[in-house]
Amino acid sequence: MRSNTMIVTAALPYANGSIHLGHLVEYIQTDIFVRYQNMTGRRCLFFCADDTHGAPIMIRARNEGTTPEKIIERYHEEHKRDFADFHIKFDNYHSTNSEENRKLAEEIFLKLKNGNHIVTRNVEQTFCENDNMFLPDRFVRGICPKCGSDDQYGDVCESCGSHYDTTDLKSPKCSMCGQTPTRKISSHYFFQVSHFMDELKKLTEGDTLQPEVNNFLATWLKEGLKDWDISRDGPYFGFKIPGEDNKYFYVWLDAPVGYISSAYHWAKMNNEDFDPLWKSGEAEIHHFIGKDIVYFHTLFWIPMLKGSGFKKPDKIHVHGFLTVNGEKMSKTKGTFINARTYLDHLDPEYLRYYYASKLKNSVDDLDLSFQDFVFRVNAELVNKVANLGSRTIGMLNKIKSLDNKLEFLSFSDASDELRLLQKIKSESESIAADYENCDFNLAIKKIVKLADEANLYIDTAKPWELKNDPDKLQHVLTTGINAFMLITKYLKPVVPGFASKVERILQIEPLVWGSYKNSTDFLRNHKIGAFERLMDRIDIKSTDRIIEATRTEAESKPGPGPDTESIDYDDFSKIDLRTALVVEAEKVTSADKLLKLTVDVGGEQRTLVAGIAKDYSPEALIGKTVIIVANLKPRKLMGIESRGMVLAVNDGKTLRLVSPDSPTPSGKKVS
Ligand code: 2FM
Ligand code: ZN
Repeated sequence: MRSNTMIVTAALPYANGSIHLGHLVEYIQTDIFVRYQNMTGRRCLFFCADDTHGAPIMIRARNEGTTPEKIIERYHEEHKRDFADFHIKFDNYHSTNSEENRKLAEEIFLKLKNGNHIVTRNVEQTFCENDNMFLPDRFVRGICPKCGSDDQYGDVCESCGSHYDTTDLKSPKCSMCGQTPTRKISSHYFFQVSHFMDELKKLTEGDTLQPEVNNFLATWLKEGLKDWDISRDGPYFGFKIPGEDNKYFYVWLDAPVGYISSAYHWAKMNNEDFDPLWKSGEAEIHHFIGKDIVYFHTLFWIPMLKGSGFKKPDKIHVHGFLTVNGEKMSKTKGTFINARTYLDHLDPEYLRYYYASKLKNSVDDLDLSFQDFVFRVNAELVNKVANLGSRTIGMLNKIKSLDNKLEFLSFSDASDELRLLQKIKSESESIAADYENCDFNLAIKKIVKLADEANLYIDTAKPWELKNDPDKLQHVLTTGINAFMLITKYLKPVVPGFASKVERILQIEPLVWGSYKNSTDFLRNHKIGAFERLMDRIDIKSTDRIIEATRTEAESKPGPGPDTESIDYDDFSKIDLRTALVVEAEKVTSADKLLKLTVDVGGEQRTLVAGIAKDYSPEALIGKTVIIVANLKPRKLMGIESRGMVLAVNDGKTLRLVSPDSPTPSGKKVS
């Protein structure tokens, strides 16, 4: 039997970075699912939290001269605001750095320990003598032991996807200082997940996971299950392991516990019993995650829950990654777009609609192509759906004699009106099934088709020619407005802001699904309100502006932290930086940003083109010593061959040239 209460979670975002359009695929997907469930009359609770622990946040805090707690606090507020502005509505948005989470993580750990599923063993770990610490997985880079790909993290290869121990990595280097680390022995706690082999096999045979995900899992199970190291030596930002002085839970141990602690915290705040939510199995539990963290949510999380007496999820919905214009999101290309940058330029419901139109129940990647985005939103949501509302409601508003009233709507059999409205009503179950199965793209296709049919009906009935037949006119408009109301209802999980505007205009109760509260009844003999502009077309220029703004942000931000795109020392040492003396400088005609410079590099004269004309006059540069990248491949700019690049500080507004702080001859190496 279907349980009336559902718990839905989306993966917990890390507390040391902003929400971007890649994250939003999942939060929008989950929010649509939750809104749909609530529209059917179920009580669907949406829980999430910030994932706060781990080494990267500790190292970042150290580098920035602040504390992890301060970073967490800042991002907590930012995340909450970004989600709210995208209409992502959590019942609770908590933090893994909370007392509830500490208590639950300890409880789960102790249950697993008392159940003899945890052992301690001495292990050799990667240690950096220079930084005097064991190196976290993400702070060692080297060659993947499985496929030989260069420059991979210490725990997982981004090229072949295999997981391994940091000590397996070939030619390891510390990401913080570039030195080759040594190894040291330390005692660690291991969770023996192989004790749960039967449980995991059962999982692959059920319908908790999508079929393709069952296949991944079956393959991992065949390879055999290794014990999972759940401890980290200090310094580490996390929860101390009970009974230990300098050992902490690995972040992935307490992160998923954050799902439960968010529910626990919600129950406490709302005076509800927690046990029926996550212990006694009364609530149905759904996790939404990306394909990169299936490993943690199956091999580790399921045994953790089973071994500690918590209910296991009924469903784990896995989605693919976001690509933008067919490629991986990129900071330099301006496609690594933050939620806030998007919000500064466009309505969140455009993106919700576009993602919905592409989301399906599969792990395939989803592409955000800006051209297609603008085209689809304008052609479907604006020109078909919103336009149906504006042409019918707008006209009813204008005909004073009708007094904004919908008629009784009595149909003659086989009339176009009856056929249209029944057709729209009859799709209700099939669209509901698409939402239920997370095949939102199918729901959108059906809804757009219904909007086409409704618009065709209006085109054929030509209400603008019926001004002398007010009864017929009212009949046509009543039909059109009812069609629009039903279509809005079907779209409500996707565009809740749009739907609530329509509810206000039509002066109706919040639209709900199915027979629940008789929602499928038509609106008859009902007075509506005044039309409000529903949705504007997107101007393609706004997407260009988003990309431009993203590029500027990337240029003005401090360099990527170790958790983003870092290069290793060998890459850096390939760059030949030299002092150079500017001997000539002139404006490049036809390019108002560029200056042509002649520089002396240790006796050799070269021509460079630099985009600094807005900040420097040619005269001010002559005689200045600058730093250049001397071994950059020559490049033609406005027909001039540029042999190198001048270094400047870019704060997003102005450029300031970098130069040595005391007189230095040209041609000297900079390192
Ligand atoms: O991959 C990530 O972004 C993690 N912060 C997800 C954690 S999900 C859950 F297990 F906490
Ligand atoms: Zn180091």
